[in-house]
Amino acid sequence: MSNSLSIEQQARAAKAYVLQELRKTSAGQQILDDVDFFERLDMNFITVFAIFAELYGYRHDCLDQLVDLITMCGTSWQARAPELRDLDKARELDPEWYMSNKMLGGVCYVKQYGKDFEGIKARIPYFQELGLTYLHLMPLFLAPKPFSDGGYAVSSYRDVDPELGDINQLKELATELRKAGISLVLDLVFNHTSNEHRWAKKAAEGDPEHSAMYWVFPDRNVPSAFERCTREIFPDDHPGSFIQLADGRYIWSTFYHFQWDLNYSNPTVFRSMAAEMLFLANLGVDFFRMDAVAFMWKQMNTDCENLPEVHKLLRAFNALCRIAAPSVLFKSEAIVHPDFVVQYIDRYECQLSYNPLQMALTWEALATRDASMLSQAIERRHNITRGCAWVNYVRSHDDIGWTFSDEDAKELGKDGGSHRKFLNAFFVNRHPGSFARGVPFQDNPRTGDCRISGTTASLAGLESMQGHAIDRILLAYSIAMSTGGIPLIYLGDEVGQLNDYSYLNDQSKMDDSRWVNRPSYPEQRYHERHDESTIPGQIYKGMKHLIALRKSTEELAGGRAVGFFTGNETVLGYQRPGTGSTVLCLCNFSDYGQWVGRDRFMGLPPSARDLVTGYDVALREGIELKPHQFVWLRY
Ligand code: GLC
Repeated sequence: MSNSLSIEQQARAAKAYVLQELRKTSAGQQILDDVDFFERLDMNFITVFAIFAELYGYRHDCLDQLVDLITMCGTSWQARAPELRDLDKARELDPEWYMSNKMLGGVCYVKQYGKDFEGIKARIPYFQELGLTYLHLMPLFLAPKPFSDGGYAVSSYRDVDPELGDINQLKELATELRKAGISLVLDLVFNHTSNEHRWAKKAAEGDPEHSAMYWVFPDRNVPSAFERCTREIFPDDHPGSFIQLADGRYIWSTFYHFQWDLNYSNPTVFRSMAAEMLFLANLGVDFFRMDAVAFMWKQMNTDCENLPEVHKLLRAFNALCRIAAPSVLFKSEAIVHPDFVVQYIDRYECQLSYNPLQMALTWEALATRDASMLSQAIERRHNITRGCAWVNYVRSHDDIGWTFSDEDAKELGKDGGSHRKFLNAFFVNRHPGSFARGVPFQDNPRTGDCRISGTTASLAGLESMQGHAIDRILLAYSIAMSTGGIPLIYLGDEVGQLNDYSYLNDQSKMDDSRWVNRPSYPEQRYHERHDESTIPGQIYKGMKHLIALRKSTEELAGGRAVGFFTGNETVLGYQRPGTGSTVLCLCNFSDYGQWVGRDRFMGLPPSARDLVTGYDVALREGIELKPHQFVWLRY
């Protein structure tokens, strides 16, 4: 590849070479004869080529790797089921289908929530009752036992955990979900594999080709040099970013010692993971949750997080989907500083992204009874590229980390470090008057870092029985349901599931407090969900009301929230402009009634309908909100 040519010229030459190589075999010719495939290849080749050339152009085998990659895409497209191809076509005609206000997500572990794939299938009628259109099944692949980081240490991307069923049952489940109008979301854990993956085992045996798929070094020199700048992610497990192999070599392991980071500076890794991704796409996956994206590229003298090459990799993976599984979209899991979170959100990269800042600051506001930080985040950090959507959640299977920006906090007179300390103390009930019953996660006295585990109900006060807990749960979910994008319910939250401390009796879980918030299906609570005299019944009723409101309020579709200054720091305000009408949301974080003065509503009509209660509210008089009350005012 000569540098004197423009990228278009180089791409044209490379394409001619790839086509010529493919035409050499009848299988290759067949791939090119497929008009749909050829058209999509034509549209996306330059993206794939440009990134490939940038990342791997220095290698003599770059073009041949590209031929293999395109051949693999073609083979994968040929294997794509007709109903998935139909879906590809339908979504090409309606590319923003996921921006609808009818979208509602749920997330669960297969084992905990349904025992196995058949059990999850049996819960589809419930998912429909709740109104789900999107279901994230937590990692379900073959993984080491008993330690697997909740399945995030994958031993094979083509085999599932045998306790859950087999790959055909997963495919059937995907089909059944699709028939029920529910998209399937699976994790693409592509930063690392488990140490029991075939590639990892060969690397551990010293095989050079497989060692080159990971970051392996003969001694501690290079690892120590890298570690001067990298962060410790799971310090309870091992300090630094490397662990030592049995033969004395060192291997990169950002998370647990049995999760080994893949080396994407090797094109074989890119090609191999692309093949795994397209295999999974053909099972009927609608969205990939791109796990731990921030860590995928390493560069000496940097913190090895959020590097520009990660974005290139994501764009290249995305382009491959456009070629061979066009309806598949990406959701980024980047739980990092907000400046970096937004960098992953792009039509050509990740169309969806978790909104970790809004999640954390909702809890922050509940603890402080002060909505200023959350309000500032909506004002300043909510805007994302058109056509992309936040996934707004109240909690996940993971810990809660206080990922706000210190600069933002400073503007509001808060010191980031001490505020995080306060929040950690508050949420683990080490602060007088705390209602929360969380558990510390990765408490690192050396760096002062700590995060919080706990279910929504336990963090909101249901476990400590201090009052207002149900209101807090509903307030938090009302924000996730109305700020734009797709709301995501951790299944069990809708019936007020509490912390599960049984993990402390299980050797394989006791050192990872996140298991406190990954409980089993709460049979009794679901049983009581239609009985309003019970706590689960009251929470369920409130959640169902919110869901129904969301689904009938078109202003809440996709898009983003626009800040609204309430003049009262305990009351959060934001607007959702629609066509011809706007919904103004106000949320009182205080344990007491609060006023939003009439001057705040100047320029608005004299009254507005509160969609939550169904009553008209006289804006010209100002509004009084009860403790933890939220209103959705349409004008
Ligand atoms: C993601 C997962 C988390 C896991 C980590 C390593 O952050 O959400 O559970 O421990 O990746 O795969």
